[in-house]
Amino acid sequence: MSSTVDLSLATQPSDADAVPGLIKDLNALNGNWKEGDEETRYKMIVKARSLLQSLMTPREQTVQHTWADPGLGAALTTGVDVGLWKLMVKNGVDAVHNVEDLAKSLGMDPELLGRLLRHVCAMGHLEEVAQDEYKLTNFTRSLSLDVIGDSYLCLLGGIGRSPIEFYKFLRETNWRNPVDATRTAFHVSYDSKVPNSMAYLGSIGMGPQMNRMMGGYRQGRLPWHHPKIYPVEEELFPGAEPDAPLVVDVAGGLGHDIDEFKRNYPNHPGKLILQDLAPVIEDAKDIDPSIERMPHDFLAEQPIRGARAYFMHSILHDWPDDVCQKILARTAEAMKPGYSKLLIFECVIPRTGAYWESTAGDMLMMTQLSACERTEDQWHKLIEDSGLGLKITKFWSSGLSAVENVIECALA
Ligand SMILES: C[S@@+](CC[C@H](N)C(=O)[O-])C[C@H]1O[C@@H](n2cnc3c(N)ncnc32)[C@H](O)[C@@H]1O
Repeated sequence: MSSTVDLSLATQPSDADAVPGLIKDLNALNGNWKEGDEETRYKMIVKARSLLQSLMTPREQTVQHTWADPGLGAALTTGVDVGLWKLMVKNGVDAVHNVEDLAKSLGMDPELLGRLLRHVCAMGHLEEVAQDEYKLTNFTRSLSLDVIGDSYLCLLGGIGRSPIEFYKFLRETNWRNPVDATRTAFHVSYDSKVPNSMAYLGSIGMGPQMNRMMGGYRQGRLPWHHPKIYPVEEELFPGAEPDAPLVVDVAGGLGHDIDEFKRNYPNHPGKLILQDLAPVIEDAKDIDPSIERMPHDFLAEQPIRGARAYFMHSILHDWPDDVCQKILARTAEAMKPGYSKLLIFECVIPRTGAYWESTAGDMLMMTQLSACERTEDQWHKLIEDSGLGLKITKFWSSGLSAVENVIECALA
């Protein structure tokens, strides 16, 4: 068996033999695809990506990763920052947009804007009508929405250096799995003393964008309380004390989850409480007025004792195990045996066949926060081997690859 690779490999399609089979598979999946069938759509995305990768040469893939994608990120982020996508939508979602006119309205150099839009178009995200004239696609239309556009400002514009310079951090830490939340790749890349990359976004005035980005991430996904995931009317409501706290959304951000719960179950028993750090609670103004808004640091004693459920969405994946244990300890202390549940809404990565959004989330957590998305085994270890008196009672799953599980826990 040869142990060298000939240079010619880099300039040939990566797997030409696989192309006919992948097209056949895609056609078969498409034949069975009905509106709303998300799992088939996920499978088609994975096949379509394999098809593209099989057709591209290794050289072309390198150009894509190291020139095209960073260049696209630069153009899209600039567009969000300068208000380009909002302006184009305002001028007409289906209109033909002229670079000269757009540049004039935005106070931009038309030559610069022309170059940016030419690359966005070449990457498939605008329709070219004539030279320097474009129509929006659904993707570029969506960039006008804050919940979508703000991801570019935060993750690329605000803290985008952390994944790029991750390798330098790993050199410094002898290629150990990162588990120290106080010294992460973010701290090294930005030479920053703030506690973490989320606090850093707040410190550079991007707190509202970060919170809106979280609202975008959850769009189109089943909420935790959907009957296909966690049937609250069967699991939470029976036995709930009428005037006691029903759900405490711990670190619930701007309250998207708890507000949606209120909308879907307006006649729920008990009270709903949203907790987060004071500046976030200050911004959480657009939620149902019956939901109590409470500033709370989850590392401090939990003031709400004996709630029916303590809910945490996308919280524990932000932290390595040692910090998670502190957060969980504060919750376990407040829980009432035989009554309170802890409901963690997070990814559960399978042993094999991990879905790309989960592995991408894991990379994001690792490179920004020295944290992780967890496997079922890691969840058991975190919850049950920490001496907190908690046990996992059930993983509630919709069966969809891209949707989080509700990890239901109780005092053992
Ligand atoms: C990834 S966001 C998740 C927000 C929300 N649960 C959601 O799914 O949209 C993490 C949240 O943790 C909050 N947070 C960070 N440190 C905290 C602390 N020490 N105490 C309470 N909340 C904190 C942040 O303000 C942010 O709202």
